[in-house]
Amino acid sequence: MKFFVDTAEIDAIAELNDLGMVDGVTTNPSLILKSGRDILEVTKEICDLVDGPVSAEVVATEADDMIAEGRKLAKIASNIAVKVPLTWAGLKTCKTLTDEGQMVNVTLCFSTNQAILAAKAGATFISPFIGRLDDINLDGMDLIADIRQVYDNYGFETEILAASIRTVNHVTDSARIGADVITAPPGVIKKLADHPLTDKGLETFLADWAKTGQKIL
Ligand code: E4P
Repeated sequence: MKFFVDTAEIDAIAELNDLGMVDGVTTNPSLILKSGRDILEVTKEICDLVDGPVSAEVVATEADDMIAEGRKLAKIASNIAVKVPLTWAGLKTCKTLTDEGQMVNVTLCFSTNQAILAAKAGATFISPFIGRLDDINLDGMDLIADIRQVYDNYGFETEILAASIRTVNHVTDSARIGADVITAPPGVIKKLADHPLTDKGLETFLADWAKTGQKIL
């Protein structure tokens, strides 16, 4: 399973990247706003830092403008994945840019039918939003499982990028189902290491070690 980090904060990406935990990065207009940075500048910095795909999202709503924005974003670096919304204009942009050899991440996916359309348009990644479905009392994991089954039924090569991940259980469940990629905020990725028995066990080991009076270094 690949880990993408869902942020435009350079320091947070660098910290996880140094540990080998970053296979890619996803950004969106809200994350760019949160970073307070210029989209072209911060995206270039992220692309220089990380080897894997870096999603940068278009903001136009008409296909011609989306395509132009996508081509501009794609010029930032060779590891850009142009992110487009799951609208007909977004699908047209996806088809045009993937035909040109560009990686495309189709985002804001909330149904299996939408995911089928993205795969047929040649998407590199489909981003179903788990947390936002959970927010309205639907089960985001059901969507990931449905898309996995349908893509496997037909051999679609589009990678399932489980997005809008809010909890560590979303990560575990995505892994069980077989999502190809998860994208999660740095805080969720760091929480994956937490376990109270690890903390308790370490506390005991350190207390016993102190009683031995020994030193390793
Ligand atoms: C990723 O590509 C999405 O932009 C992101 O995961 C959305 O997450 P949110 O629903 O927590 O904003």
